[in-house]
Amino acid sequence: MTDFTFVHACREIAAGAGRLEYVWDITKRHGARRPMVILDTYFAATDLPARLAAGFGAPPPIHAIPAGEPDLATIEACRAAMARANPDLILVVGGGSAMDCAKVARILLSNPGDPMAIAGPAGVRMAPHPSLLIAAPTTAGTGSEVSESAIIGKPGAAAKLIFRSPEITPAIAILDPLLGITAPASVTAASGYDAVTHAVEAYTSKMANPLTDLLAVSAMERLAQNLVRAFLVPTDLDARMACLLAATEAAMAFNSANLGLAHAISGPMSALHHTPHGLANALALPWTMAFNAPELGAKGTRIAALFGAATAAEAMSRLRHDLGLDLSLDRFVPPEALDELALSASKSGQTRMNPRAATLGDIRAILEAMRGPTSGKQPRL
Ligand SMILES: [Fe+2]
Repeated sequence: MTDFTFVHACREIAAGAGRLEYVWDITKRHGARRPMVILDTYFAATDLPARLAAGFGAPPPIHAIPAGEPDLATIEACRAAMARANPDLILVVGGGSAMDCAKVARILLSNPGDPMAIAGPAGVRMAPHPSLLIAAPTTAGTGSEVSESAIIGKPGAAAKLIFRSPEITPAIAILDPLLGITAPASVTAASGYDAVTHAVEAYTSKMANPLTDLLAVSAMERLAQNLVRAFLVPTDLDARMACLLAATEAAMAFNSANLGLAHAISGPMSALHHTPHGLANALALPWTMAFNAPELGAKGTRIAALFGAATAAEAMSRLRHDLGLDLSLDRFVPPEALDELALSASKSGQTRMNPRAATLGDIRAILEAMRGPTSGKQPRL
């Protein structure tokens, strides 16, 4: 067996419908006296703040994160709110953007100064913050509740800022399928396809290891059996729970195995053209898996079998079709911008983790192919 390292910094995962209430147990167990809540703006207008006030015994300070990808201004506003509240427990309830924002804002409390000083994809040493960070995802997607990375937009730049350290990983993740039950079906589809992309790319990454394979296969199996169901029947709590657990498993896998060419392409698509992350992955993954086919071997056969398709690429094509994500790249990126996009993707560290080496010309050909839908069929480059 090849030498490997598996890392996992989240120390507790609680799962089940209604498990958000577990926060009150945690608060008592840790003797927390100054809880603070970070919410997606959407949840600030629901009954959640009142439920949290009842659970904590008094209304906690709440900071709402605006919709959309967080940037440095969003982070600064969140950091300032945290500095005012001086919390010893921080609960974040939201999607990947809210969780990433809370992770970075919190660690800036113990690492004051320019956020750029602690940014970097390889990870930078960060001073720990003593507060207990609890993350409750409302979408099954990024898996940020267990990952040691956070992605922040940098206006005008082709690459996003990556913050990476075990110190920013939430200590406790709460997977409660009731939280996302009112999310639009399109959000369930796009975020779920992001989780699929994490599982598939972690499984086929050059850095995959026996433990990440275990988690990635489990995630793919759950998503193959439940994601379309959760998309079609949003109230199916079992399907939603399976997807939440799969997104967590997939993130535990990519936390060590890293990702591949679909994420190398989707990163600059979002940074340069504001393409929503899950949609960008849905545009790329069937084609990158068609490109990777010669190098997939038994893993390609396994992916195809898990999703009930002839090939891994066909499986990804069919899944995006079933989720209403069979779109053209032209909707998001003008054809004259494809050269720049290919160049950015070729420079991504995730391209180096891809199972098949991809040249700039290979990536440009994949982008050209992404302009056409696949109608659920085998993509042919
Ligand atoms: Fe992703």
